[in-house]
Amino acid sequence: MAGRVKITTEALRAMKATGDKIVALTAYDYTMAGILDDAGVDLLLVGDSVGTVVQGHDTTVSVTFEHILYHSELVSRAAKRAFVVGDMPFLSFQISDEEALRNAGRLLKEGLVEAVKVEGGQSVAPTVKRLTEAGIPVMGHLGLMPQSIHQYGTYKVRGTDAAEADLIAADAQALEQAGAFAVVLEKIPAELATRITSELSIPTIGIGAGSGCDGQILVTHDMLGLFTKFRPRFVRRYAEIAEAIGGAIKDYCEDVRDSGFPGPDESY
Ligand code: KIV
Repeated sequence: MAGRVKITTEALRAMKATGDKIVALTAYDYTMAGILDDAGVDLLLVGDSVGTVVQGHDTTVSVTFEHILYHSELVSRAAKRAFVVGDMPFLSFQISDEEALRNAGRLLKEGLVEAVKVEGGQSVAPTVKRLTEAGIPVMGHLGLMPQSIHQYGTYKVRGTDAAEADLIAADAQALEQAGAFAVVLEKIPAELATRITSELSIPTIGIGAGSGCDGQILVTHDMLGLFTKFRPRFVRRYAEIAEAIGGAIKDYCEDVRDSGFPGPDESY
């Protein structure tokens, strides 16, 4: 792996310019974040997907600011090279700009992240401006925005009709103008993501948005086959970790029950 020089917003912008793809994954704890960092992941997102793949909820809506703060600190401690972004959970940034600033500031000061992520477009652009003016880098999130699931009523692909596609493209422009350093594009047609990527000067990071984005992100528990309750079509499984763990635990159960563990070498 190349040197351990910390990735910065500047480095991410440069990657768009040179066409080097940004590799991003979610992380929630020290051990996993260390593995991802060592393997060369550029950006670690302490996502509110912690609500589904770690906490066992059906949606991300119940994730609190304190949860993200806690997990951010664990991840940041492990990230020697990767740029760490803390997700602003539902209602941690919408109530007022003051509250958004206070919460985002705490994520940087106490959670030790280097940037925050907010879901939303033109409606959150003034907040994004306020945060960036205060020196807090902001990553946007457009397309399918899981915090709005109760409003959508479905996890279907967004931006499939011209009106919604244009709205998402306009939202992306608004985020860039407000000072966002990057935008996540979730579950939109590949053609729309490619169009937005060419229209923006900041990087786009896709999840279920095709290969035309400047980078890709996946939920680590999904791509490792650790979380198997459901599997969106856009997830490629790079391992079957739940199966491997299940097998190891069955072996352990058998060994303990047969008095095969511990053996002489594991005893004092
Ligand atoms: O919370 C999360 O993990 C996310 C990614 C899916 C982009 O927002």
